[in-house]
Amino acid sequence: MTKKPLRSRHWYGGADKDGFIHRSWMKNQGFPDQVFADKPVIGICNTWSELTPCNAHLRTLAQGVKRGVWEAGGFPVEFPVSSLGETQMRPTAMLFRNLLAMDVEEAIRAHGIDGVVLLGGCDKTTPGQLMGAASVDLPTIVVSSGPMLNGKWRGKDIGSGTDVWKFSEAVRAGEMTLAQFMGAESGMSRSAGVCMTMGTASTMASLVEAMGLSLPQNAALPAVDARRMALAHLTGMRIVEMVGEDLRLSQVLTKKNFENAIVANAAVGGSTNAVVHLLAIAGRAGIDLTLNDFDRLGGHIPCLVNCMPSGEYLMEDFCYAGGMPALLKQIADHLHADAPTVSGKPISTQWAEAENFNEDVIRPIDNPLVEAAGIRVLKGNLTPDGAVIKPSAATPELLTHTGPAHVFESIEDMKATIDDPDLPVTSDTILVLKGCGPKGYPGMAEVGNMPIPRRLVQEGVRDMVRISDARMSGTAFGTVVLHACPEAAVGGPLAVVKTGDQIKLDAAAGVLELLIDEAELAERLAQWKPAEPEFDRGYAKLYVDHVMQADRGADLDFLIGGSGDVVRRESH
Ligand code: FES
Repeated sequence: MTKKPLRSRHWYGGADKDGFIHRSWMKNQGFPDQVFADKPVIGICNTWSELTPCNAHLRTLAQGVKRGVWEAGGFPVEFPVSSLGETQMRPTAMLFRNLLAMDVEEAIRAHGIDGVVLLGGCDKTTPGQLMGAASVDLPTIVVSSGPMLNGKWRGKDIGSGTDVWKFSEAVRAGEMTLAQFMGAESGMSRSAGVCMTMGTASTMASLVEAMGLSLPQNAALPAVDARRMALAHLTGMRIVEMVGEDLRLSQVLTKKNFENAIVANAAVGGSTNAVVHLLAIAGRAGIDLTLNDFDRLGGHIPCLVNCMPSGEYLMEDFCYAGGMPALLKQIADHLHADAPTVSGKPISTQWAEAENFNEDVIRPIDNPLVEAAGIRVLKGNLTPDGAVIKPSAATPELLTHTGPAHVFESIEDMKATIDDPDLPVTSDTILVLKGCGPKGYPGMAEVGNMPIPRRLVQEGVRDMVRISDARMSGTAFGTVVLHACPEAAVGGPLAVVKTGDQIKLDAAAGVLELLIDEAELAERLAQWKPAEPEFDRGYAKLYVDHVMQADRGADLDFLIGGSGDVVRRESH
């Protein structure tokens, strides 16, 4: 039962030349007349790709969605959009998140569909799809890829990404052989799915669930668990109902839903990447979300999910312990219980019956893994528009630290010199990396967790304060200050830091200061000159010309907001 005529009738409902054209060519796939007779058309927006290994199984999952759509009386149509494989794309998948968002937006708007199921999982696919879908605002629901099974190697569980960083440092320290390192490769990624640590992919899937954008248990069910296929089936049924209810994405993307996501991000020990992605999605949805909201709402929230990189377990364990519903129940007092969801019911219904089956994996609120674990926003003369740090992944003693800077002017400079035995650094040194922000890299690469200099690794140093305008993989850890705004490439103060300058970090107080005279800083900034533009054509030029800073979600300035779902002209 629909409240108003289906949008798809403008494509498939006409007894005229245009209706003939839209239906006839679709019939070449073997669809009979009745599928075009007033059934809700459900687009399954699929980021499947063999070059995105984390999403490579999504055509199979789409079959589950289709079963549900057919069962509920809809007409499912699967369509591809760009896919972004985090581990496969150069210079960084983040460069293309906004391109995916444009692709998703235009593909949804251009076609005769009434509702959308977003199938994604690898880091940038979830936010890119939500950004695009928000700018069209049809009824929309998410099914995530699901995490890989736990990695296994030499009798131990190993985690995607997190153990790569650890093993790589162990090789550099001479504590692990190269043969052992290579041997871990196959054991780390042994099933379909996304990184099974609480990296960016599982963070975004967890936040999708906390925001009520999916059915419960979407985040943690392993990709290969038969229950994920059942979840896809139920999602297919639900999206047909959502079309009938005209329950649009904007009704679920409220400020309350974003605020719940910020709280949940702290409680799961989620990725710093969630900050830029939530800001970007909010920008599309017309929600006034700022960096300050992360401090205000998340800063005091404890981390309860004992998953790598903050803890020791993996997403499969999180699933068996009860998953997001059990976690949300623990933090219910900090959430908006009445926030809307795709189910049409308040979010509190998702945790009402939840149980915690392993209190070491999902810690009770009075026995957290880390107190006050939410992303902290750092401001001061070095980052006037903000930077972020993830306390749950940092070394507690380094969260308050003053030391001399050692500056790398570029990623190439860092790579060429980091292992120089004569690099003038000690464990007190603060490593500073420039030129890795949205415009500078371009694309704001995940290189902020730069390696510890080899000489120090061999002396047993495992963490140092590191500062950059880059991002960091959600699977990574360390006392790493990220997303410095404004970035060096646009003349932010980071651009004029010199080796030897003293820098003060006080994460609890939210302070990051370059300890030089105000006049000296002003003089250096006045002398600063931008680099010559590197790109004169194509998407990279469009991106560099229009990308906003990290505190605005690194979206393109002309993509803020939405254009709705109306297309006024026919194609013939
Ligand atoms: Fe795709 Fe981690 S690389 S989710």
